[in-house]
Amino acid sequence: MLPVLETRDLRKGFASARGRLEVLRGVDLAVAPGEVVAVLGPSGSGKSTLLHLCAGLEQGDGGSVHWDGAAVEPAAPGLAARRAGHVGLVFQHHYLLAELDVLENVTLPGRIVGRSVEAEARELLAAMGLGSRERDAFRALSGGERQRVAVARALVLGPRVVLADEPTGSLDRAGAKAVYRLLRDTVRARGSALVIVTHDESLVADSDRRVRLEEGVLV
Ligand SMILES: Nc1ncnc2c1ncn2[C@@H]1O[C@H](COP(=O)(O)OP(=O)(O)OP(=O)(O)O)[C@@H](O)[C@H]1O
Ligand SMILES: [Mg+2]
Repeated sequence: MLPVLETRDLRKGFASARGRLEVLRGVDLAVAPGEVVAVLGPSGSGKSTLLHLCAGLEQGDGGSVHWDGAAVEPAAPGLAARRAGHVGLVFQHHYLLAELDVLENVTLPGRIVGRSVEAEARELLAAMGLGSRERDAFRALSGGERQRVAVARALVLGPRVVLADEPTGSLDRAGAKAVYRLLRDTVRARGSALVIVTHDESLVADSDRRVRLEEGVLV
């Protein structure tokens, strides 16, 4: 079976005051359909950089990224539409829009691709325990509730893989655990794969696989 997401010898560096910083030095990662993979590693090890490249948001310096076997070129025309159909993104900050209520935030990806996703959005909000909060403004929600809305938005177009960068980083332990469980269960129920970046190994103890970014490679 083709990996939903694959990196081959992926490389990325940045110019810094101390000279060139080689952050990713040949990362090979293959995520199977439906697999839950946790990416661990210290601060500054390149976890967010790796996720951005996997999402096609940034261009690597070498190597390649593939979605269902097809190469991803960040500059290629049509990549945004391909991404919308393949990848769901969750960040540490929720990036909900204050002008829109909860349901409108979750259906926003549908508006971007020109598809009505209201039924899916309502189903996802109910699965995330927010069925009664559809018409709330996000300001009325707690931090954990906001992240649950962000998870529903990431899933609303039925992505093959969800990429989550420290989605529970701003929550306390109990809140982090609750959001992680809902994220994992909802992703699994929909047959999507999940790549979750976290500092907290105990949070993801039940993931299918844990990999660690060290010195620019996965170990
Ligand atoms: N756009 C950029 N320009 C210059 N340097 C960058 C850029 N993006 C990331 N870096 C550097 O690359 C390294 C890896 O950053 P990255 O954000 O990927 O780490 P991380 O593992 O996600 O860290 P954290 O756990 O703190 O979120 C850091 O040293 C960072 O300063
Ligand atoms: Mg990061």
